[in-house]
Amino acid sequence: VEWSDSERKTVASVWGKINVGEIGPQTLARVLIVYPWTQRYFGTFGDLSNAAAIQGNPKVSAHGKTVLNALDKAVKNMDNIKATYAQLSQLHCEKLNVDPGNFKLLANCLTIIMATAFGPAFTPEVQATWQKLLSVVVSALTSQYF
Ligand code: HEM
Repeated sequence: VEWSDSERKTVASVWGKINVGEIGPQTLARVLIVYPWTQRYFGTFGDLSNAAAIQGNPKVSAHGKTVLNALDKAVKNMDNIKATYAQLSQLHCEKLNVDPGNFKLLANCLTIIMATAFGPAFTPEVQATWQKLLSVVVSALTSQYF
């Protein structure tokens, strides 16, 4: 994957403005609400029976932060994202048995949450660059499935 200087700047700037403690929980909650079949992987998380329960569930919030914090590695290793996530891909495939199609769903929910948080600053150009990064992450997380 090739990254222009302006794409690198955009990624760094977007990442610098993300509040992981807010965006992470909101993103995972949205995934679990909009795509309820994803709840099957979180059987130990307690009450996920409705949107309010999901949004108020401390385990969802904590794990949402974990997932978003993991994106820091992509931002810091933009030229080596596949290797960076090889182990995490293996974990999701072999141990967690997560269907890899769900990575894309999470990436899309993250984009929606970011658009809401950033408002007009999330221009089409910023979105395009950010989604490029997410698609490389999704592909890296899927890489150990085959
Ligand atoms: C665990 C990252 C997407 C299900 C984890 C962990 C990380 C992570 C860092 C903790 C690993 C550890 O404990 O060593 C990510 C990233 C994702 C992603 C970066 C996408 C951008 C998903 C999706 C699902 C999922 C889409 C399911 C729909 C799980 C589950 C665990 C986990 C079930 C274990 C949770 C627990 O019991 O504590 N993920 N993940 N992940 N992930 Fe993901």
